[in-house]
Amino acid sequence: MSPRFTLKTALLFLTVGLSKACFEEGAHLEVDWKAITAHNNEFRSTRRHIAPKAGVTAIENVRVFDGYSVLPVSTVFIQGDKIIDCPQHACNVSDHIDGNGRVLLPGLIDAHAHPGNVTQLQTLSQYGVTTTALMACYFVEACRSLTNQTGLADVIVGSIPAAAPGSAHGNITKAVDGNGSQLVYNSTQALEWLDTQLAWKPDFVKLVAESLGLDQETLNVLTQHSHENNKPVACHASAHEAWVQAVTAGVDSVQHTPLDTPISLRLAESMICRRQVATPTLTIMKAISIKYPGRYNYTAAQESVRILHSAGVPILAGTDANEVPGIIANVPFGSSIHQELQLLVQAGLDPAVALRAATSIAAKHWGLHNRGVIATGKRADLLLISGNPLENISATQNIQKIWVGGIEYEGVIGTF
Ligand SMILES: *[C@@H]1O[C@H](CO)[C@@H](O)[C@H](O)[C@H]1NC(C)=O
Ligand SMILES: *[C@@H]1O[C@H](CO)[C@@H](O)[C@H](O)[C@H]1NC(C)=O
Ligand SMILES: *[C@@H]1O[C@H](CO)[C@@H](O)[C@H](O)[C@H]1NC(C)=O
Ligand SMILES: *[C@@H]1O[C@H](CO)[C@@H](O)[C@H](O)[C@H]1NC(C)=O
Ligand SMILES: *[C@@H]1O[C@H](CO)[C@@H](O)[C@H](O)[C@H]1NC(C)=O
Ligand SMILES: *[C@@H]1O[C@H](CO)[C@@H](O)[C@H](O)[C@H]1NC(C)=O
Ligand SMILES: *[C@@H]1O[C@H](CO)[C@@H](O)[C@H](O)[C@H]1NC(C)=O
Ligand SMILES: *[C@@H]1O[C@H](CO)[C@@H](O)[C@H](O)[C@H]1NC(C)=O
Ligand SMILES: [Zn+2]
Repeated sequence: MSPRFTLKTALLFLTVGLSKACFEEGAHLEVDWKAITAHNNEFRSTRRHIAPKAGVTAIENVRVFDGYSVLPVSTVFIQGDKIIDCPQHACNVSDHIDGNGRVLLPGLIDAHAHPGNVTQLQTLSQYGVTTTALMACYFVEACRSLTNQTGLADVIVGSIPAAAPGSAHGNITKAVDGNGSQLVYNSTQALEWLDTQLAWKPDFVKLVAESLGLDQETLNVLTQHSHENNKPVACHASAHEAWVQAVTAGVDSVQHTPLDTPISLRLAESMICRRQVATPTLTIMKAISIKYPGRYNYTAAQESVRILHSAGVPILAGTDANEVPGIIANVPFGSSIHQELQLLVQAGLDPAVALRAATSIAAKHWGLHNRGVIATGKRADLLLISGNPLENISATQNIQKIWVGGIEYEGVIGTF
């Protein structure tokens, strides 16, 4: 195989890996990862000068959703990249913004997405997503080139997904690495695989539970050793059997929701003792079920979310946003987090709980202690919206202003 062919093939299959299931025949994609990396890094370097306004900005007359609930009208002060305290309003405010009684939210966190370039980070940002978790990293430099982009959505990066030879995800990984050297073959070699991943310091480890996939012992060992190295573990599981495996392994977050049979209340309750959370990604589950009617059961996915919620399992908002042609379903960046909020509400969450799923709960789970709430000392990741999202969650779709790390984002999407 010529290197060029290898690259093409790899990327073709890589795209399938971004989601799960089947690969549509005839899909074709050619991507030059080195060029993307170079472009992302170049973009960063041309924007080094971008910084928050000097002085103190006062966002006045706003009802603050502080990450938990909506508070009475008040003023939020920001200086540099942080929210500051200003007792008796004694600060030297250089910029007054009238919030007109609108609602100020912490920047939204999309806990499951697949951004690959700065255009996608810009799209996330214009919809008020200020942090996202990149759920699979196949090319380390390309993933790193998405981080530390001043004034854009912040990215935390997961490992390459751990997948077994012959499984749907394993076939993808093998197509990417060319010879199966990145696959997980058994519970002994799994530890070598993990060392290779930990060596480049991903923010978390990604596992895949799937049919014909890793056995329970291997999932257990990978989880345990990740924890010994202080790495959280996120595990893909889009079918009931896979969910049981992921929960049993003790992973920190289970990604997706079964599109076959809902999980039992007992399984959901066992997650509480294990301190596990769920990122249902209803947006892509719904997109898949619409694309393949009769094959996948979205009602079952919704039912699992209802059961998780009733058991008290923390739920995080994630979308599986990706724009790669040829995969099971595409989900747009940015707008999808607002759809996810609506789907979570439709599945039975109170609007306030849905908003927490995209702010405080997500930040807490990911150890992002400097964000997800509006409080003194936290990152000034903020979203000003009109309407009351606690009355109608679709109010988040009326965006007035956005700040990312204290920098006001130009090009806010507005009402959509
Ligand atoms: C991130 O970017 C800022 C500003 O451009 C720079 O000062 C800082 O060193 C960068 N941090 C990392 C970890 O690259
Ligand atoms: C307040 O800020 C303005 C402009 O930032 C500056 O000119 C002025 O001296 C400051 N006043 C005080 C009391 O710090
Ligand atoms: C980023 O990726 C998307 C989807 O592949 C593509 O449409 C867009 O042109 C890319 N942007 C850049 C700057 O390469
Ligand atoms: C993975 O590829 C092998 C060899 O081409 C094939 O036999 C197997 O069915 C594939 N696995 C899945 C789940 O598609
Ligand atoms: C597999 O391919 C990689 C490059 O993609 C190479 O570094 C590695 O040595 C190869 N391993 C084997 C066992 O051939
Ligand atoms: C585990 O897999 C590796 C890589 O394929 C292989 O070399 C080794 O013999 C296997 N070990 C066991 C115990 O099966
Ligand atoms: C889909 O799942 C729901 C909830 O479990 C169930 O009531 C329904 O019968 C399922 N539909 C099909 C076609 O299996
Ligand atoms: C929420 O707002 C949307 C958009 O304005 C509207 O279509 C929908 O009917 C509203 N829902 C409720 C329950 O009021
Ligand atoms: Zn994903």
